Amino acid sequence: MTQSPGQGQALDNLLTESRTFPPSDEFAAQANAQPALYEEAKADREAFWAKQAERLHWDTKWTQVLDWSDAPFAKWFVGGKLNVAYNCVDRHVESGHGDQVAIHWEGEPGDSRAITYGELQREVSKAANALTSLGIGAEDRVAIYMPMIPEAIFAMLACARVGAMHSVVFGGFSAEALRTRIEDSACRLVITTDGQYRRGTPAPLKPAVDEAVAGAPSVEKVIVVKRTDTEVAWMDKDVWWHELVDSQSDQHTPEAFDAEHPLFILYTSGTTGKPKGILHTSGGYLTQASYTQHHVFDLKPDTDVYWCTADIGWVTGHSYIVYGPLSNRVTQVVYEGTPNTPHEGRHWEIVQKYGVSIYYTAPTLIRTFMKWGAEIPAKFDLSSLRVLGSVGEPINPEAWIWYRENVGGGKAPIVDTWWQTETGAIMISPLPGVVSTKPGSAQRPLPGIGAKVVNDEGVEVPHGGGGYLVLDEPWPSMLRGIWGDEERYRETYWSRFAEQGFYFAGDGAKYDDDGDIWLLGRVDDVMNVSGHRISTTEVESALVSHPTVAEAAVVGASDATTGQGIVAFVILRGGAGSDAGGADAIKRLRDHVAKEIGPIAKPRQIMVVPELPKTRSGKIMRRLLRDVAENRAVGDVTTLADSSVMDLISAGLQSGKSED
Ligand code: WT7
Repeated sequence: MTQSPGQGQALDNLLTESRTFPPSDEFAAQANAQPALYEEAKADREAFWAKQAERLHWDTKWTQVLDWSDAPFAKWFVGGKLNVAYNCVDRHVESGHGDQVAIHWEGEPGDSRAITYGELQREVSKAANALTSLGIGAEDRVAIYMPMIPEAIFAMLACARVGAMHSVVFGGFSAEALRTRIEDSACRLVITTDGQYRRGTPAPLKPAVDEAVAGAPSVEKVIVVKRTDTEVAWMDKDVWWHELVDSQSDQHTPEAFDAEHPLFILYTSGTTGKPKGILHTSGGYLTQASYTQHHVFDLKPDTDVYWCTADIGWVTGHSYIVYGPLSNRVTQVVYEGTPNTPHEGRHWEIVQKYGVSIYYTAPTLIRTFMKWGAEIPAKFDLSSLRVLGSVGEPINPEAWIWYRENVGGGKAPIVDTWWQTETGAIMISPLPGVVSTKPGSAQRPLPGIGAKVVNDEGVEVPHGGGGYLVLDEPWPSMLRGIWGDEERYRETYWSRFAEQGFYFAGDGAKYDDDGDIWLLGRVDDVMNVSGHRISTTEVESALVSHPTVAEAAVVGASDATTGQGIVAFVILRGGAGSDAGGADAIKRLRDHVAKEIGPIAKPRQIMVVPELPKTRSGKIMRRLLRDVAENRAVGDVTTLADSSVMDLISAGLQSGKSED
């Protein structure tokens, strides 16, 4: 049944999806998370988190679980002391698992390396000694600008081990982006590589560092890992990793740091403005990363092979490649390259090679796989997969179903995990053995987490209603601020619902009739058509539910009659016929949206495009599409993954307008 609360609502609820998939009895019986977990957390939230913190090794136990007296600055596990790297590495060696593979690393050109926990301990110890030899210690900032190679993980853990804060900057960012981030937190050290493999060819990386460091006087040294053997200019501050690190002792005694000792800064750009340095600390962050990894992914350290396809340049790589998995003694795959190098089945080949059982990726990639066609995964043996995850954007129900059928063998539970750089770890997600999953819904706050959907006044909306997603309780892995900008921290997250004391996530959301949460995209992207507040996600999902469409982005463009009109940009699926972009086909798509969610959401205009503008982490940049839809010069494209995409879209527009 379609519900439309209509005018005046914070956000209308238009799209209804009624398919549900309960876990099998076998899965439910063996699952790490059982239904009682919800009850336990509800009965005593702080006692629940204290129990989760016991998953870790503490050198000194805390005296207080939560101190929220200085809100919005939380202190978790007050008085406790631990070493984060020890928890991710050494304790597994000490418990007799030194020979277990921690990382099956797969390089883009086809080279590979298996790293055991014993080896990881030696590598991290050497790197930690190297940092100490350079005078890097507690609270110093270290920029890490590297491709997905094992040394990047060693470097992060070495920082954690000596109490220095890492600031990982994605290897696809420019010299200027690197420089502003180094400067903002005054990094003393940069760790990088000579070059990186990208789509089968080595590309230089160090020149960007040279340029950035020339304008960043805080940097004293640059450690360079040799990866591609590309020739590099050598600067006074440079030192080779293999000369500095390899000569160090592989013994290092970790020091215990306070639970609130800073662990890392990670810059998040959003779509506009100066990037925000999101600050995370140690004990609470590791507790929630570890807890979610175990329960949401149902990770079994002795038998699972886990693979998260993110880059360490994003928070997903921090929490679900480094800290969550390693604190749980995972065996995981880390892949250096792009998914279509050297062919479009590369991921499935890797799943088959290592027997990957848990696979965690982003909707943008799933829709790309859809575009490439189901025959590609069908060529590989994917029967080892037993849990699938999704993160980064709302996953359209059709993409979810495609993922389940073509990757998950029609049976692996899918966990749609909602969280943010700021939340540090997963907040909303089904528990795979407990909750019957629904395609497109992140469903419920995890045990121990408080989240709800509220209206403009901060009042919770009824089932079937839409509004804003807020977090109404502090959580262990919450950000502890924006580096150097307390005011911006309060203003961005805590001012919208200051009276209620809610954290405002910036996302629109709705409850379905069962009270499950559906994410509806960023509130800044919400469209207002004749007074109806329509979510981009719902219209996009309606478009993707048509068999010819692989991917869609919609924006509201100013409209003389309706305030805003919906303009859609669509990418067709691999097998869609040659007439799928013709005028009749476009009309059928518009009618399809009207049928799926109602005439109010029928796009005014639909354009078939070869690509969509995305950030380097795969999020669609609707701001640029709004410029196109409103016939404006396209704005700042510097954060686009591929800046030529906008030219392609504009060129396509001139050749065939598909309005009716
Ligand atoms: C924003 C946070 C969390 C790691 C990667 C992104 C969107 C994230 C989901 C999801 C719907 C999602 C939200 C959120 N988002 N996961 N499962 N369903 N939307 O981290 O770059 O900080 O982005 O990503 O809009 O606010 P991020």
